[in-house]
Amino acid sequence: MHTSSHTIEAAERLGAGITEISDYREASRPGWTRDVFSEAYRESRQWTVHRMKDAGLEVHTDGAGNIVGRLPGTNPNAPALVTGSHTDTVDGGGRFDGIVGVLGALDAVRQLREGGTSLTRDLLVVDFFGEESNPYGLSCLGSRAAAGELTAQDLDRTDYRGVTLGESYSRFGLDPAATLNSHWARRTGLHAFLELHIEQGPTLEQRGLPLGIVTGIAGIQRLLAVFTGSPDHAGTRPMTDRADAMVAAAEAVLAVRREGCGAPTHGVATTTRLESESRSPNVVPSLVRMTSEVRSVDADWLSGVKGRLAQEILGQASHHGVDVDFTWSTDNEVVHTHPGVHDTAARVADTLGVPWMPVPSGATHDAVHMATLAPMGMIFIPSKAGKSHCPEEWTDFADVATGVTALTQTLIALDQTTLTGHS
Ligand code: GLV
Ligand code: MN
Ligand code: MN
Repeated sequence: MHTSSHTIEAAERLGAGITEISDYREASRPGWTRDVFSEAYRESRQWTVHRMKDAGLEVHTDGAGNIVGRLPGTNPNAPALVTGSHTDTVDGGGRFDGIVGVLGALDAVRQLREGGTSLTRDLLVVDFFGEESNPYGLSCLGSRAAAGELTAQDLDRTDYRGVTLGESYSRFGLDPAATLNSHWARRTGLHAFLELHIEQGPTLEQRGLPLGIVTGIAGIQRLLAVFTGSPDHAGTRPMTDRADAMVAAAEAVLAVRREGCGAPTHGVATTTRLESESRSPNVVPSLVRMTSEVRSVDADWLSGVKGRLAQEILGQASHHGVDVDFTWSTDNEVVHTHPGVHDTAARVADTLGVPWMPVPSGATHDAVHMATLAPMGMIFIPSKAGKSHCPEEWTDFADVATGVTALTQTLIALDQTTLTGHS
């Protein structure tokens, strides 16, 4: 693809938008932190609404907090095309994860208008509510609700302070009951969903490729393990006669890591939190909570993880005289992209002369849940040094512009493509 003055202008415009929204952040936290339910997120969402209106979209917010901008098509009866991503960030996160897919979609609208292109179908641009995983252990709140997958039990989940998810919705001004009643499928048939996102890993940069077309998205199993030992005097209880919950948890951290290292294809396993109830430095720890997650695009391997880890962790813990209680939850199953959407994006990239490769996604996305409503696909652009979920997260604005061109042209192609079945 040659670099025209249009592409340079688009890169500058996208860069300015990314910089503007990144000003909405929690000043007391590192990086560009915009947690779901935070004041910074509340304010940035108003900015997004204005930005959507400036792009000429009809904007509404659904019961689950998703901001939806509509560009009407020429046939009001044709199922709509949907694109978008999210604008919340992880604690200590960066400026591109999610944001690129929302601002990129708005730039696609601009490119359609400036090119005088009318789509047959309505184009819905969505800023999905609260995509990042949160203390409730549930990612993709908005797209999950749109897919009818958010449950009343989910609203009862509590964070570290005992506040429920339902209470957090209420405090943020959203009716928790409405989030359960925001299933899009009740109202609309959708033609396809396409999400532009940064890769968040090193593959594209290492291969020197500007574009990845996603083959599938990793499933995620989350574990809360509670280790119960016996409190005792740390100065007197002999080392051979202890039930130390911290030691059993430490063995479990290493077992989780070994599990990830043993994955046959892309698989990873991470422990993100260890909390001990013991406040005193001179008491043998008796209650420790461990939060871990295991991900893979290999559904068979992932389905065996609970059994393998339980056996390993229980074996080690009983050796230390410690009991373990496991609570597993599936954040999402492995999801494959729709071959028709994938191939349309690939054809567009070839026509544009943009080199690409098929890539799996180890990160999760709103696309996982949209795949239950429509054929789904994703386009990735490179991440500098593969870094993401950290302040160093970076993608050159020219690469963002290339991704937006691919997004725009793939939406135009999908508008005219017959797709059968879901992802
Ligand atoms: C979201 O970015 C996730 O992969 O957890
Ligand atoms: Mn994301
Ligand atoms: Mn993320």
